[in-house]
Amino acid sequence: MRVVCAVGARPNFMKVKPVLDALDRRGAEVVLVHTGQHYDAAMSDVFFADLGLRRPDYYLAVGSGSHAVQTGRVMMAFEPLVTRLRPDVVVVVGDVNSTLACALVAAKSGARLAHVEAGLRSGDWSMPEEINRVLTDRVSDYLFAPSEDAVANLRAEGCAGDRVFLVGNVMVDTLLANLSRAERSRILETLGLRRRGYGVVTLHRSSNVDTAEALGPLLRAVDQVAELCPLVLPAHPRLADRLAGMNWTGQVRIIPAVGYLDFLALEASARLVLTDSGGVQEETTVLGVPCLTLRTSTERPITITAGTNQLVGTDPERIVLAARLAMAVPVTERRPPLWDGRAGDRIAAELMAAELKAAALAAAEVRSGEVRSGKVRSGGQETRPRQRDPGGARSGPGTSRPRRPAPRPG
Ligand code: UD1
Ligand code: UDP
Repeated sequence: MRVVCAVGARPNFMKVKPVLDALDRRGAEVVLVHTGQHYDAAMSDVFFADLGLRRPDYYLAVGSGSHAVQTGRVMMAFEPLVTRLRPDVVVVVGDVNSTLACALVAAKSGARLAHVEAGLRSGDWSMPEEINRVLTDRVSDYLFAPSEDAVANLRAEGCAGDRVFLVGNVMVDTLLANLSRAERSRILETLGLRRRGYGVVTLHRSSNVDTAEALGPLLRAVDQVAELCPLVLPAHPRLADRLAGMNWTGQVRIIPAVGYLDFLALEASARLVLTDSGGVQEETTVLGVPCLTLRTSTERPITITAGTNQLVGTDPERIVLAARLAMAVPVTERRPPLWDGRAGDRIAAELMAAELKAAALAAAEVRSGEVRSGKVRSGGQETRPRQRDPGGARSGPGTSRPRRPAPRPG
């Protein structure tokens, strides 16, 4: 079984690692493709080194651009590769532009498509990631959901039950696998921080950082929080660009984006985290660190109902008040079901079992068709090559696997 795993942006690397390893262990032929959506050493290379993720087999070098440009470039570069590699399955992770672009290509290629982190919904259509999530799920054959609420979202959208698998959270696999390594990070000493004596901030959502009207009040709010507790902010390049343009100086200590092990070390020992990141909401839940999400919606409500997260919005007064309370009241450590470090294994097991079943069904269908039409001798040998499917049309949600055999070029 040949599987192409596609990644492109920072959080994708953490999500793919446990899936790739589990597929490798089961003997699948795995091809790793990096679209190059993120390309700086601090946004890409450092994660390969920190996670022990093997070098990508193909690097598409698409770089930055508007949504259409970036998505289009990934599609144009990924399509000929998929045509050449003829994978049985393409695996995409998360909700970034590379996820959707590779999903669209895979869906029309005849390969089956698996989405890891399926079913998350913020309900906010102004978020580019929400569009990426919904469309990717709509064209996927295998939907690997991290939590029950994600499964419920998929069911509510009419996805057939046999496409949906509740597997747990791959980000948590990576976190648990690396926590003891992160404990050896020197970042606290380097920054002069004391365990539980500081807070961490991350901001990179376009709705929060792209305009001065949105970013200004948020920065003023975190600055007030920094008067209560020292704050360190590793800046994503989107934010770093904006800060450079604003000449902003304040109480918050701004440093360049850090690698995974250093960031995990910062998160794990923090007294408080303020963020608009998706992955950070999940990680703080597992680490038992209070998290304030500076957004008006979240696609990860499980981190609120079964974790340490609070959705506090973007109003500065509310943020400061929530920070005061969060630092005063200890959190109870809770973890959503199946966030246990074994999601990658479950995904690989389900994927390989489903693929084997689909292959056996397809072979049985071909055999019975050939027997009926007299194309097979009594010994069962083919008398002429199998017809390729000319159309390759896909089954929709509500229909079940297997899809028809892929149209293979050449
Ligand atoms: C993307 C995802 C977002 C995810 C985030 C993870 C989409 C629509 N957004 O947002 O969901 O949470 O990644 O970090 O896919 N840049 C660099 N160096 C890099 C990469 C980017 O300088 O290596 C700068 C460029 O100026 C670029 C900007 O960051 O224009 C934004 O990058 P982009 O990949 O378009 O979106 P992100 O904000 O990173
Ligand atoms: N992260 C990191 N360095 C940083 C900030 C975040 O390694 O300076 C990690 C973090 O631990 C998590 C992931 O990046 O695993 C989250 O990515 P990001 O916030 O960029 O994207 P999102 O999860 O919002 O899509």
